[in-house]
Amino acid sequence: MKIAMIGTGYVGLVTGACLAKIGHEIICVDQDREKIDALCGGAIPIFEPGLKDIVDEGVQDGKLSFSTDLTQAIELVDVIFIAVGTPQASDGRSDLTQIENAAKQIAKAANGDKVVVVKSTVPVGTCRRVGRILGKHDHQHTFQVTSNPEFLREGNAVSDFMRPDRIVFGTNSAQAEAIMCDIYAHFDGANVPVIKTSLETSELIKYSANAFLAAKVAFINEMANLCDATGANVDDLSLGIGLDSRIGAAFLKPGPGYGGSCFPKDTLALTILAQEADSPSRIIESVVDSNSNHIRRLGRKIADFCADCWKTDKKNSLIDKRIAVLGLAFKANTDDIRSAASTVIAPLLIKQGASVIGFDPEATIAAEAAIDHIETTTVINEALTGADAVVVLTEWDAIKLIDWAEKKTLLNAPVVIDLRNLYSPEMMAKLGIQYLSLGRPTVE
Ligand code: UDX
Repeated sequence: MKIAMIGTGYVGLVTGACLAKIGHEIICVDQDREKIDALCGGAIPIFEPGLKDIVDEGVQDGKLSFSTDLTQAIELVDVIFIAVGTPQASDGRSDLTQIENAAKQIAKAANGDKVVVVKSTVPVGTCRRVGRILGKHDHQHTFQVTSNPEFLREGNAVSDFMRPDRIVFGTNSAQAEAIMCDIYAHFDGANVPVIKTSLETSELIKYSANAFLAAKVAFINEMANLCDATGANVDDLSLGIGLDSRIGAAFLKPGPGYGGSCFPKDTLALTILAQEADSPSRIIESVVDSNSNHIRRLGRKIADFCADCWKTDKKNSLIDKRIAVLGLAFKANTDDIRSAASTVIAPLLIKQGASVIGFDPEATIAAEAAIDHIETTTVINEALTGADAVVVLTEWDAIKLIDWAEKKTLLNAPVVIDLRNLYSPEMMAKLGIQYLSLGRPTVE
């Protein structure tokens, strides 16, 4: 099938390339000429494992092309996916300007009836709004709007697309439903559940899934705090509850709080949506609060632990200290630093007088642009050399696999604060490293 994909961000580019991989002919359109020129020249503007290979393959097979000409793309296809950004507006709602503009442009350019698939994460009611915009700007043609949320984790997006847990689409048109079944027919033999539902349910499935996962993360972080306060161990606790099949083991790893481009934005948007629908969600409101309190609390904990280790006064303890922050991206295998722990923790440390050197394999450029006065490096030894303390924020393999017996010699003081629970407290104790992690014994 011939499909136009509007928007070549994380979601649009991965979805476009994967749809080409499963046999469709995809024109990816973006108004950003530089990005399209780069893609036409074989460069991938984001770091996403496996993406370059399938983009190259799609282009070589003649299945994938890139263009800035939306009108021409719309004329050539019957199905248009909208995968533009829905960033958080200053009032916490999703800013739907890009969605609305895309709908207006589709209506203006349409040369026949079209199926319009909303891939971007949008509040309930948006697909109907898109339908109204299309109808208002084009009286001649019929548009069947469909909601088809993505469930792609950054860093795993290509394999999430190719091996989905489920496919969800919402539409009130039998014809659009048949077209969506054709688009995803590749997965027919693979036992992938397909949920065909209403526009509203499909839109809300996406928000609920993210809110539920965010709640799991916030929950385990609170349990880790409780473990610290009571002497319990969060690793064993996660195992002990995760083996209950009703709970499940995934998403029970304590950390610096959820970040990224989806969870913080979507949980907040859902609380507003729920309030406006006169059906407030106290649970999700608490999750949002819990997550932002968690990271601030960790900021204080880092400074206090350092002062204890260095045997300095808690006030002004960070002045002129050199702190290595390992991992600037919001999680491993991505260059995305949106709502990353580093964007909260590094400024807190810098504000208290520390000089911060951040290591990340992929996110240093983004981090330098986002965090004032941070120094960055892609060489781990450069970050560790002369550090008075090390703060681990992201679970990159390069960080997970650090040989502390060797690296300890580079440090000015053997102080490691691990906000991803990557190392064993027993091993750190043996190496004589003062070690703070989450919900596990502290080594002082
Ligand atoms: C998420 C959803 O998983 C995906 O389905 C959706 O389409 C987009 O949003 P993503 O933001 O890429 O994907 O990240 P994900 O891997 O889900 O992690 C979200 C956040 O939770 C990260 O900050 C991560 O570090 C944190 N997390 C996750 C934990 O702290 N502990 C866990 O056990 C799991």
